[in-house]
Amino acid sequence: MKDRILIIEDSEEIVKLLKDILTLRNFEIEYVFNGIEGISKVKENLYSLVILDLQLPDMDGFNVLEEIKKINSSLPVIVLTGFGTTENIVRAIKMGAEDFIEKPFEIEKFLISIDNVLKTLKLEKEVSKLRMIESILELNKSIITLSEPETLFDRIVSILENLYSPEKIGIYLYEQESKRFLLKKSKIKKLQKLTLFYPEKEIFPYFEKGNIVFLDETSGLNEIMIFLKGKEKSLGLISLSFKQDRKIKEEEIKFFTSLAIQISIGLENALLLDKIQESYINTIASLVKSLEAKDKYTKGHSEEVAKYSVLIGNNLGLTTEEIEILRDSSFLHDLGKLGIKDDILLKPTKLNKNEFDIIKQHPIITVEILSPLNLPKEIKEACLYHHEKIDGSGYPFGLKGKDIPLYAKIIAVADAFSAMTSDRPYRKRLILNEAFEELKKNAGLQFDEQIVEVFLNSINKIKEVI
Ligand SMILES: [Fe+2]
Repeated sequence: MKDRILIIEDSEEIVKLLKDILTLRNFEIEYVFNGIEGISKVKENLYSLVILDLQLPDMDGFNVLEEIKKINSSLPVIVLTGFGTTENIVRAIKMGAEDFIEKPFEIEKFLISIDNVLKTLKLEKEVSKLRMIESILELNKSIITLSEPETLFDRIVSILENLYSPEKIGIYLYEQESKRFLLKKSKIKKLQKLTLFYPEKEIFPYFEKGNIVFLDETSGLNEIMIFLKGKEKSLGLISLSFKQDRKIKEEEIKFFTSLAIQISIGLENALLLDKIQESYINTIASLVKSLEAKDKYTKGHSEEVAKYSVLIGNNLGLTTEEIEILRDSSFLHDLGKLGIKDDILLKPTKLNKNEFDIIKQHPIITVEILSPLNLPKEIKEACLYHHEKIDGSGYPFGLKGKDIPLYAKIIAVADAFSAMTSDRPYRKRLILNEAFEELKKNAGLQFDEQIVEVFLNSINKIKEVI
């Protein structure tokens, strides 16, 4: 397809000269002799390039340039003038002109300029097309693999950052009850602030016409908002802020629009996944309870283990997030017993070797049950290794010392203490001091020494739990 060039020039002589030369060079040429017609041509047609004279009979050439860039900021313009002062050149370039040519001009130079502008434009288009395709593919991957909202937000932020390098990015989710768009994820360059929420009343009117709105902020930034709409309801919005001199190209707007649709699909999936995961966890929690309720001896065991574990975790100085992982792991650690027959699980007498081998499978079964969930791997590991012993005599893998994760070592102490201080069908519970002695005796063999020490230092709190 031929490149189409529009010439806006009042001199018939120059128009004829350019037209003849450029037609010979296989360009398609259109021309007008004034600014107003030039602007309406740009509005109605697609050109590869505009050649614009700054001295026109009806309008100042700079105003024409401004209008053209407003209509299509990515349309290249080569400016022609008889008065090429530095001031004019700088002004035209600042306003987005791609090149500046003084009259009278040498034809060869002119052709080189046109060639360069068109080559750069094509290259830019190719590169930006490639980057966009890459981003869409990357985003698609997250959508297809059903990421959690948090993972999807990270992906979206990194894609937008790489593509547009905005000053600020904010991902907002719409909250039905408060009727507000709440900030969920953000990335800002230094010294910028982000709005924490937008009330629905302020935002909805902007989106009546379409998916994207432009807001001028008093901070000197341009803000673009992309609306995210699900099948039946508003999901949220993404806000991108740019410095005012960063022109947003037409293809970028088109891309934002299609990105908004993709992100909305991904977000809807992610929110659904979050709900599914929540209900799966609730189901598991009730399973743990029902499992323990079958046996009066283990009723409430996991909850007690969780309390002892948290006690140890706090004394070891774990962070809030780590304590959370420890609590969840403790609560879930024996879940795999669901997969073991009741006649073994509830056997009132001591287990024989075969039966014990079956019991030894429960940490592995726990991890199998948890595998569809996107839980932190630390939780799965804590459950898998909670029967490993420091001296390597534990099960299911016989791991030793520092190969056993900290969470598993904490649960091992909490689990053993809870078991020792509860009645079992084949033995009475130990009194506290006996249980403490048992822990001490096995510190360094079965249990981690430091964990036992920390646990024994909290006697008063242990009594509270009991
Ligand atoms: Fe266990």
